[in-house]
Amino acid sequence: MKMNPWTLSVLLLLPGPLGADPDWHVEYPDSFCVVEGSTTTIPCSFTHPAGLRVERVVWCTNNEFCHSSTPNVYDSSNFRADIRFQYLGDLVRNCTLKIIKTKKRDAARYHFRFETNGRGFTGRKGVNVTVTDGEDVKVRSSVTDHVVKEGGQVTLTCTSACSFHQLDVHWYRNGHALSEKGHALHLSSLTNNNTGDYTCSLDSSGLKTSAPWSLVVGEDEGRYARRVAVPVVSVVLAVFFLLLAGLVFAKRRHAQKKASEVIQKQEVDCKQEAVGASEEVSYSTVHFKRNSSRSAPGPEHEIVYSEVVH
Ligand SMILES: *[C@@H]1O[C@H](CO)[C@@H](O)[C@H](O)[C@H]1NC(C)=O
Repeated sequence: MKMNPWTLSVLLLLPGPLGADPDWHVEYPDSFCVVEGSTTTIPCSFTHPAGLRVERVVWCTNNEFCHSSTPNVYDSSNFRADIRFQYLGDLVRNCTLKIIKTKKRDAARYHFRFETNGRGFTGRKGVNVTVTDGEDVKVRSSVTDHVVKEGGQVTLTCTSACSFHQLDVHWYRNGHALSEKGHALHLSSLTNNNTGDYTCSLDSSGLKTSAPWSLVVGEDEGRYARRVAVPVVSVVLAVFFLLLAGLVFAKRRHAQKKASEVIQKQEVDCKQEAVGASEEVSYSTVHFKRNSSRSAPGPEHEIVYSEVVH
């Protein structure tokens, strides 16, 4: 049976077994999540009938046919495409796309198209790329309690709404980078050195960092209780002695004050008598001083007087 090209293309566009052609195929994940600012690769592979040579490969967005009029993020026959999109694939079967420093606006449905010396084919299903801001990055723990016994073990997992199998996960304790990489951090034979605040980050810049998860490697409960109880009892005792000392001091001061008031009263009585006496003394002093100050300019007055007379 001979099919005209139009019928053939209609059959190819039909979903289901009738439209599926095992010779022409693009394979990529249904959806792909990328953390904003990170660099990722979208895995992709394609097949075409043997004997054909691929001449052009295109990645486009939001158009299931990738017609030449639609905006491309990558086009092997055109160099003006965005340099943040790099084609890591080849012209044989690998169509992996790398997105560098993913931006919010990169979120779209991406399609891959290849054109051969015969005809072209677009992976119509596309891959839905979502971009998250990474605020949902969390540390999850294999244990619910934050206090883990010495010698025990715990596995911390870095999670996000994004699947980030393509990304490096970095771990930090109290803000200092740990050498361990990967989405799970396994800590065993725990010692007090493992105590701290753990965070994970989805890129090396540390921008998409989780909230801290506190791990306390506890000694056995008796020691733990003593470690808590001793300072508490010390503080209570210290406060008690301070209060006691304050009370004694206050009492003493009160007694001293009373005693000094009595003394002061007696002193006041004495002073009053003394003031009476000193008033007489000062009176006579003033009297005497007046006399002496008047007598001092005596000669000047006399001189002036004699001048007026002349
Ligand atoms: C396709 O190319 C990428 C980048 O070079 C590589 O990591 C990946 O393994 C390749 N995939 C296949 C199926 O060969």
